[in-house]
Amino acid sequence: MSQMLDKLADLYARGEPIVMLTAYDFPSARIAVAGGVDVILVGDSAAMTVLGYSSTREISIDELIMLTKAARRGVTDIPVIGDLPFGSYEESDELAVRSARRFVDEAGCDAVKLEGGGAMVPRARAIIAAGIPVYGHVGLLPQSVRTREGYRARGRDPEQALAIIADSDDLAAAGCSALIVEAVPAAVTEIITQRVKIPVIGIGAGVDTGGQVLVYHDLLGFTRGRLARFVKQYASAHDDLTFAVRTWASDVRERRYPAVEHTYPITPEALAEVRQRVGN
Ligand code: KIV
Repeated sequence: MSQMLDKLADLYARGEPIVMLTAYDFPSARIAVAGGVDVILVGDSAAMTVLGYSSTREISIDELIMLTKAARRGVTDIPVIGDLPFGSYEESDELAVRSARRFVDEAGCDAVKLEGGGAMVPRARAIIAAGIPVYGHVGLLPQSVRTREGYRARGRDPEQALAIIADSDDLAAAGCSALIVEAVPAAVTEIITQRVKIPVIGIGAGVDTGGQVLVYHDLLGFTRGRLARFVKQYASAHDDLTFAVRTWASDVRERRYPAVEHTYPITPEALAEVRQRVGN
């Protein structure tokens, strides 16, 4: 395990919640680090939050690697987790290992995340065998969602809850370093947390976990419209930034900006010479 990931294992061993936030570029990573988070996930949620696609299924591995590299440049001493996008790992162990290696070699990631149990457990095992730590992801799996209604909680009926618990057990047994549990009733997450001996990092999965993750744009209030039940916004970035741009635009139109303090001076002698030489 990388030294960076050791720090997370220490937090888990001490029973202290791991704070994970998504980031997708240099400035968002810098803000996450300045805010004191323990680990950054460059999630494929970037597809929707920064690239404007309608689902996470549309982002390519090249696009996500470019964003991951930018985020990595903003981070010094906390781990960065890369997210294997849709289509980059499902087909075979070889593909999964090749894609995971790109996140480590090209983008400097400390681990990669993949979605799902079942047929994805061997993929996780293969990546781990290649020496790359893996974070599992169970519950709501955005890469499998095809419609807006698909973004509902998982594991509210016994069959689904049991399947999520079984996937969690399998991913932990395969050697995953941690599990993301998304949009699952807190009581079901508690069962998972008690069974697996790795950190369970929840998003919409209750408070009794080894940590929490949120999407940067949700946390900071860039996201507009209907929000998932689990989102708590700690800032109003969309409104505050829109206000700033509107104020600047109005200052430009009214010639209030730039003011003298934003303008470079020139000495009267230098200006006189310039005027004289251009015949002004
Ligand atoms: O892509 C992402 O941001 C994620 C988090 C929601 C866990 O997978």
